[in-house]
Amino acid sequence: MCGIVGFTGMRQAAPVLLDGLSKLEYRGYDSAGIAVRDGDRDTEIIKEKGKLAVLVNMTDGGKAVKGCCGIGHTRWATHGEPSALNAHPHATDDENVIAVHNGIIENYQELKEKLVKAGYTFRSQTDTEVAVKLIDYYYRKYGEGPVDSIARAMIRIRGSYALCVMFKEYPEEIYTARKDSPMIIGIADGETYVASDVPAILKYTRNVYYIGNLEIAKLSKGEVKFYNIEREEITKELTEIKWNAEAAEKGGYEHFMLKEIHEQPKVIRDTINSVVKDGRIVLDEFGLTDEEVKALSQIYIVACGSAYHVGVAAQYVFEELTSIPVRVELASEFRYRKMPLSKNSLVVIISQSGETADSRAALTLAKERGIKTLGIVNVVGSNIAREADSVFYTLAGPEISVATTKAYSTQLIAAYLLAMQFAKVREEITEERFAELLEELNTIPDKVAKILEDKERIQWFASKFSNIRDAFFIGRGIDYAVSLEGSLKMKEISYIHSEAYAAGELKHGPISLIENGTLVISVLTQQALFEKTVSNMVECKSRGAYIMGLTSYGNYSVEDTADFTAYVPKTDPLFAASLAVVPLQLLGYYISVAKGLDVDKPRNLAKSVTVE
Ligand code: F6R
Repeated sequence: MCGIVGFTGMRQAAPVLLDGLSKLEYRGYDSAGIAVRDGDRDTEIIKEKGKLAVLVNMTDGGKAVKGCCGIGHTRWATHGEPSALNAHPHATDDENVIAVHNGIIENYQELKEKLVKAGYTFRSQTDTEVAVKLIDYYYRKYGEGPVDSIARAMIRIRGSYALCVMFKEYPEEIYTARKDSPMIIGIADGETYVASDVPAILKYTRNVYYIGNLEIAKLSKGEVKFYNIEREEITKELTEIKWNAEAAEKGGYEHFMLKEIHEQPKVIRDTINSVVKDGRIVLDEFGLTDEEVKALSQIYIVACGSAYHVGVAAQYVFEELTSIPVRVELASEFRYRKMPLSKNSLVVIISQSGETADSRAALTLAKERGIKTLGIVNVVGSNIAREADSVFYTLAGPEISVATTKAYSTQLIAAYLLAMQFAKVREEITEERFAELLEELNTIPDKVAKILEDKERIQWFASKFSNIRDAFFIGRGIDYAVSLEGSLKMKEISYIHSEAYAAGELKHGPISLIENGTLVISVLTQQALFEKTVSNMVECKSRGAYIMGLTSYGNYSVEDTADFTAYVPKTDPLFAASLAVVPLQLLGYYISVAKGLDVDKPRNLAKSVTVE
């Protein structure tokens, strides 16, 4: 949450900063600001409440602000309401130190009291202002220079931060430091960039450094120096980013979400092809040996939000293909549970961003308990990717829309591939069944593409139902897992109250909410459970519900009960979530569009939740 950018080079900084921030707005969008320095002149700080567009207007797209060195920020409020005062950058009164920050400083109250005693006054309610003044305090007290004063402040600060700092006495330099919040540094000829995420700088360079936890970097034009917290200079390797710049643009689609929905056939295929070679699933690079897989007695899948929903679907797949018991846990719960964890367990953390605070904490806990960990992660070099014992990278590419679609779909694929390979290594499925599943998996991209060809039908349905207040999603088994995701898509971008229930649970309470016209979306791709779910649909219908059925071609009897039916191609029941989710993504999307909402940036949400 919160996005930061910085630039120092030969060209004007403000347009670069605004452009970078526009790629990071998914991380927060309640206020934005920039600070730009023109040589030895005073720094100009412009910040305002509201979306980035407000700042763009105020600065004439950046043209009104002169200078080749600057920092910028787009905010998702944690401490202090969204306002111009609380917007970043924050500065000392004399602008000796100016900074932007992403993260949370947990002991800010205690630090603030110390600084007040030392004579500092505070204007905003933010924890960031405390960090700025703490750095200034050490800078003045010891007179040692930027790296030293930042290092001293880092020792005192508890919490998470990615900081970009400018010092009055170092006009063309930016100093950065991070702990537990993401940040990358990009380098080009005579120019240096820093940002919370790759899309912000992809247009300018693909050569990046990953700055590690508790490290500091000094950025000058076309040059970076790294230091550890002991203030010793350290060396880092330059990495080339493989994503291309177009991947982070809308490419003619009205919204990123629609573009990302349409990218699913490609990214699913890319993810399959990344590990399937000559009819085999090759996980050699993951560092999980066959012996370890054979010895597994328990799998914990731990994640948040949609990634957790992937875990719910994956649980059914793992348990059907292997004899390993699987528990799916919400990371925010798992991290505080005092549960026995067997040494022969595997903790699988699923995370698109690789930065989600609760998922990271769950990973740390598993590692502390000596349990092997595997990350299913999309963002290369993210914290979870770096900290897990092994990583399965999903190849979804940059996902900009706050509501996940393509990352969810590639996470499902990664889970299927792992389950299939584990079953094979443990000799729990036959060669024939393995080959059959692999063949079927390879058809998923085309089947998703086929569903997308028929999207107008869902669009029409969405336009009829955009004014509803409540929706219920029901299903059994993997269809329940899909219902959870469909319901989340609906509520997060259309602001319609929606709930997902295991269809068999309806009678245990929620059915009392069904009344005339209530929309019930029933997912029925699991042939073995079809009749059971139809009975639940009938129960809802007899209480006046309007029923949408979502099932596979061939199950036409569903139309006897459903008022509207959407069909997806047939597949192996284990892979059905990959197809059934697509009409539900489209439904959430089109309802949000019909309501005129900000699809890609729903209120109160941010793409990567780096705070607890
Ligand atoms: C919903 C959504 C979120 C994320 C969740 C976890 O559309 O995107 O629920 O799935 O915040 O994020 P990651 O996968 O980055 O850990």
